[in-house]
Amino acid sequence: MAVTIRLEEEKDYRIVEEITREAFWNLYVPGAFEHYIAHNIRKHADFIPELSFVIELDDKIIGSILYTRAKVVAEDGTEYPVISFGPVSILPEYHRQGFGRMLIEHSINEAKKQGFNAIILGGYPYHYQPYGFIGSKKYNISMPDGKFYTGIMALPLYEGALAGISGSIHFSESMYPDEAKMEDFDKTFPSKEKKVQASHQEFEKAATEIDNNLYD
Ligand SMILES: CC(C)(COP(=O)(O)OP(=O)(O)OC[C@H]1O[C@@H](n2cnc3c(N)ncnc32)[C@H](O)[C@@H]1OP(=O)(O)O)[C@@H](O)C(=O)NCCC(=O)NCCS
Repeated sequence: MAVTIRLEEEKDYRIVEEITREAFWNLYVPGAFEHYIAHNIRKHADFIPELSFVIELDDKIIGSILYTRAKVVAEDGTEYPVISFGPVSILPEYHRQGFGRMLIEHSINEAKKQGFNAIILGGYPYHYQPYGFIGSKKYNISMPDGKFYTGIMALPLYEGALAGISGSIHFSESMYPDEAKMEDFDKTFPSKEKKVQASHQEFEKAATEIDNNLYD
């Protein structure tokens, strides 16, 4: 079994969208929108192709990670560039076998090598704590509504990378797709049944959970 991680190329876009759709289907909402986000990201100025990887198992792509530029806006309006990743996807039949970890760690190491300062993202803490992500509240970085959520996490890529950077995190516009267009885009894939699942309520709760941790 040969595992390869390599940069995503244009010829991979559709298969990556298919994998993303499979990975997210009915997980957080009935259906999924992450494959449409992936589709939009590549066309957006915030896309970071030099950090966007696919993972292959014996020459078959089984997962992907996409990075975008984001910014922390301080109270005085100063904008600090940071980066973010997501969607990150592994085909469901390969979950919990260490492939996601390989892909995420590889991309973080590359981001360090390429001199990026910090990654800020949204997601379940149990997915990202293993890589050292911690609530962005620790760095006084809130969402634009001024609130600190447990699901918004930061990882400085070198010591002191977030020192003196605080404010609100603004993710790339490409992360917020037009819902009407999303439906049309999904129709270009094989039909799949949308279902309501218990994981949706759990996600809604997690997405709005306020970070009450006291950080040093
Ligand atoms: C998230 C995802 C990319 C992880 O890939 P994976 O190959 O399953 O992850 P790994 O096997 O490498 O797990 C790495 C670690 O992450 C954590 N983790 C991953 N999935 C988890 C889960 N469902 N529950 C709890 N912890 C989890 C664990 O610490 C795990 O280590 P362990 O298996 O030794 O306990 C994959 O599960 C996926 O595509 N999920 C659907 C899409 C999604 O939710 N993406 C992330 C949100 S943007």
